[in-house]
Amino acid sequence: MPDAPGGGRWWETAVGYEVYLRSFADGTGDGTGDLPGLIDRLDHLEALGIDVVWVTPFMPSPGADHGYDVADYRDIDPPFGTLADFDRLVAEAHARGIRVLVDIVPNHTSSEHPWFLDALSGPASNKRDWYLWRDPAPDGGPPNNWVSYFGGPAWTFDPVSGQYYCHLFLPEQPDLNWRNPDVRAAFDDILRYWLDRGADGFRIDVAHSLLKDPDLRDNPQLSEIPPGADPMNAFLSFQHLHDMDQDDNPGIFRRWNTIAAEYDALLLGEIALDDFERVRRYTDGGDALHRVFALRTTWMAWNPAYVAESVRDLATTVGPGVAWAFSCHDQPRPVTRFGGGVRGAERTMVLSALSLALDGMPFLYQGQELGIGDGEPLTGIREDPIAVRNEGAAGRDGCRTPMPWAEGSQNGFTTAPTAWLPSRARPSAETVEGQRSRDGSWLERHRELLGLWRRVRHLADRPAELLPTDDDLMIIARRGRLVAIANLSEHPADAAVPEGDWSVVFSSRDGVGERTVEGAVVVPAESALLLRG
Ligand code: GLC
Repeated sequence: MPDAPGGGRWWETAVGYEVYLRSFADGTGDGTGDLPGLIDRLDHLEALGIDVVWVTPFMPSPGADHGYDVADYRDIDPPFGTLADFDRLVAEAHARGIRVLVDIVPNHTSSEHPWFLDALSGPASNKRDWYLWRDPAPDGGPPNNWVSYFGGPAWTFDPVSGQYYCHLFLPEQPDLNWRNPDVRAAFDDILRYWLDRGADGFRIDVAHSLLKDPDLRDNPQLSEIPPGADPMNAFLSFQHLHDMDQDDNPGIFRRWNTIAAEYDALLLGEIALDDFERVRRYTDGGDALHRVFALRTTWMAWNPAYVAESVRDLATTVGPGVAWAFSCHDQPRPVTRFGGGVRGAERTMVLSALSLALDGMPFLYQGQELGIGDGEPLTGIREDPIAVRNEGAAGRDGCRTPMPWAEGSQNGFTTAPTAWLPSRARPSAETVEGQRSRDGSWLERHRELLGLWRRVRHLADRPAELLPTDDDLMIIARRGRLVAIANLSEHPADAAVPEGDWSVVFSSRDGVGERTVEGAVVVPAESALLLRG
């Protein structure tokens, strides 16, 4: 596999892409996306200019949280294919210069994982302490006030032993006890298992929460949980001092880092913390995680001042550790969050272009290259457990509808009469077929952007810096001989160009083209320019 231009680590100039596997491409005709479908579509990713693909969980799972409830960490769930398909995916991706990240879910297992079934047999089980068990509170209720991200208490009562077990997500997702050395050893082996099979690293689910307070103390409560609050509001009523981000949590990844180093593998963690100083602890020094998804960029709405401030804060606080994702399978798509339609897509493109001149790793979510907003599940269809379990909660189905490959039946996603998440058909203009080779389409613009990046990324040979500007809505980022200028305001504005000879090589509005600039350049409203020196 190719090294980074200039001899750095391969991920220093790589562009990533998230594949939400069950919605990407169905290769077997059963209505669910799978590994054979992904393999068939690797040419699309190669033509787009992707260097590394994160594939969401494909391990055997009862599916309570669509694969984020793993029942066997060393196999493939039959609807997604076989281990031979995984090996073929790695081989075929590598043949195209694309690396593969496995989504590993270490915070919790499925309640049907043999470890948990063993633990359930009672306190004498040697797997009992692999999970978090506690006696009831004196009133018989849960042992502390922790709440689940998916609604309700983070504890479920086990009538057989008379104890509660902890789950930050669903009761079907019991949390592992990462203070138990045997759990750590088990995951060392799981990591090696996938790395030995050719994986190039991991996206690590809920990496911020593996260790909990050893005494499982109550979280300070900030406000009353409003009646009928959705799970996120209930969650935000607490200060999460004890159920996440313990001071020693990054240490887990120092251990993983030594394993990853043997394989030149990337550790990319989901760090769902909004305090970027705390986020920084996971990547500083490069001896724990290499890159993190800090998540604010995946849920923020288009408030230009807030967007600018968030990008600046992340870039200056976490810097090279940031994986710049503006979209993922857990939040409404940015086109939708940023105002919808062409405007939402233009705004998203500004951030995609800007992120190339920031340190870190730009990431796209499937369909982002098509400039599309959320899909619409058919009336009455609710698949996401957040929506199913909480009256009135929107849930995450809208960003998870099948990838639109072409006009017509099931948008070319499957040959089955219906997809696992039936949704309104997208028009041709929102599909890969409809946009391929069409001048100015979102797909072609993304291909131009990433194609250009491949040609110029050797120029990004120095750490990125944010250049001063007295306009809060203007971000100027410089990475060696590459500069990005993003104007987030609704008006065109002048931006100062660094001294020397610079040419504009990409405009988020007009695509690739070369013109020299000197002194200052006019940046159209809500657009970004890339300059090379
Ligand atoms: C992460 C995943 C999300 C999942 C949760 C529990 O946030 O991205 O999809 O539901 O973890 O595993």
